[in-house]
Amino acid sequence: MNDIPELNLPHVRIAHPEHVSEVIQNMIKDGHDKLQVVADFDRTLSKYTHRGQICSTCHNVLEEGHVLPDFYKDEARALRDHYFPIETNPKLTVEEKIPVMVEWWTKAHDLLTKCHIKRDDVRKMVENSTARLRDGCTWFFDQLQASEIPLLIFSAGIGDVIIEVIKHQATLHDNMKVVSNYLEYDEQGQMTGFQGDMIHVYNKNEGAIHDSDYFQNLEHRNNIILMGDSLGDLHMADGAVGVQNKLKIGFLNVKVAESLDLYMKRYDIVILEDETLDVVNAILQKVL
Ligand code: C5P
Repeated sequence: MNDIPELNLPHVRIAHPEHVSEVIQNMIKDGHDKLQVVADFDRTLSKYTHRGQICSTCHNVLEEGHVLPDFYKDEARALRDHYFPIETNPKLTVEEKIPVMVEWWTKAHDLLTKCHIKRDDVRKMVENSTARLRDGCTWFFDQLQASEIPLLIFSAGIGDVIIEVIKHQATLHDNMKVVSNYLEYDEQGQMTGFQGDMIHVYNKNEGAIHDSDYFQNLEHRNNIILMGDSLGDLHMADGAVGVQNKLKIGFLNVKVAESLDLYMKRYDIVILEDETLDVVNAILQKVL
């Protein structure tokens, strides 16, 4: 751990340093051929704040600018004001939160469907949005690409928005796969709903990627770096096979004091109120 000074910074918390040290040593020994990375998007690859302002999540992007009508913005904000405190309430269990999150995503997606946006609208909204990739994200993406390390971005946000944010602020490489909620369009390019099963913050252990052959095809990559900002993100790699070393890195952005104990129990490394990928990049640099 002394070789990676970023791990000793005051905002980086580690409950079991010996374990983290052993996992990182194993990853370094095995090298980049054995590594795969699984990351959440909102507030994990993207920032929570930028220059003191709260940044948009994928869903928030749609509320910025003038593309969508005021009724959409008002109702979407009202939904968030009601449901976000429940999502992040450390006193509720995941089981208690799941039906409430399904309710939120269902209402939010129905609301958006009513607006009949056009394919090109998403690009315009992203260009003018306050969604920001973390500092160091471009380096992170480029290094993973250069070393042919697969990156799965697994998000309960909106896939179309994620793709545009990455294309606009970094590069969407061919080693990256974005699994998320994608908009469905008719032949005229007008939105008619969402494709496939809904992904919300607490069902990342189900369907979506785990029923596909994604992880089967990567079974020779026994080492996983998992990055998330919610306790639901801990399940993003549940479908991975033959895992030997897993390093779980959690970004804790809100309700820090109340959630810290829980995050330290579940994540190997917890990074508090940091808007960069410096810690992840420092570890990655050693493995490459
Ligand atoms: O990428 P990730 O899985 O973190 O995306 C989900 C995030 O989007 C949640 O943390 C939630 O707070 C946010 N969200 C939102 N508006 C919605 C639904 C989710 O801001 N309608």
